[in-house]
Amino acid sequence: FDVAFLPSEVFKDHDVRIVVDLLRATTQITTFFDGGGSVLVPLKEVEAAFEMKERLGKDWKIMGERGGLPAPGFDFGNSPLELLEAGVPEFAIITTSNGTRALMRAAEGCGRVLAGCARNAEAVCWDALCSGNNVGIICAGRNGEFSLEDTVCAGMLVEKLLALAPANGAEEMELTDGAMSAMALWHHFGPDITVVCQESTHGKILSGLGFDNDLFFCGEVDSSSTVPVLKDVDGVPALVGR
Ligand code: MLT
Repeated sequence: FDVAFLPSEVFKDHDVRIVVDLLRATTQITTFFDGGGSVLVPLKEVEAAFEMKERLGKDWKIMGERGGLPAPGFDFGNSPLELLEAGVPEFAIITTSNGTRALMRAAEGCGRVLAGCARNAEAVCWDALCSGNNVGIICAGRNGEFSLEDTVCAGMLVEKLLALAPANGAEEMELTDGAMSAMALWHHFGPDITVVCQESTHGKILSGLGFDNDLFFCGEVDSSSTVPVLKDVDGVPALVGR
């Protein structure tokens, strides 16, 4: 098992990659499907999101953030609690500062990309193991910098992968330096992921914007069995829930 701390790293060869942007993109993506959404198209840029909406039609909504808040013209922001309260649309496009970019980057050279967070931790690990034992976890980071909450969450996922792998037939498991380091951070800062979120730089920024409740929501472990998978849907790379 491997952990990359940033999407800009040179990735190893992986059978499957789990992208983690705990605050909040991959939590938001998981919540979209938990709330009944069907297809979610991740894009890097705001302009591309509006172009895609033009192309796909008026049933499609745009969600995401810039600076933690919805960009002008977006239908939803990036708060999973606000999304659930407003009612999840069936079809949406999502663009966020780091998470959607990490997803697109993870898809380079890897055929199976999953969105992981604390809420779907066990489910995403189990799904990943079904694709092979060479699992890479890609932390989204924040504006090109290391992010504590993503890495602690990645460490928790490594521990879960170790626990689940024997039941999936794995006999030998190897951890890269990245995986061992992430797991050490998890052992040091865990097990309360919400506290990690509250102490992290990004968590403090979200708290300043009034999103304290999101930190609790994003810190809940194993409350979802949804596994968002990046697939080709009618020629467009899109996330679908499993
Ligand atoms: C990101 O992609 O950077 C995040 O999801 C930002 C956020 O929700 O605040």
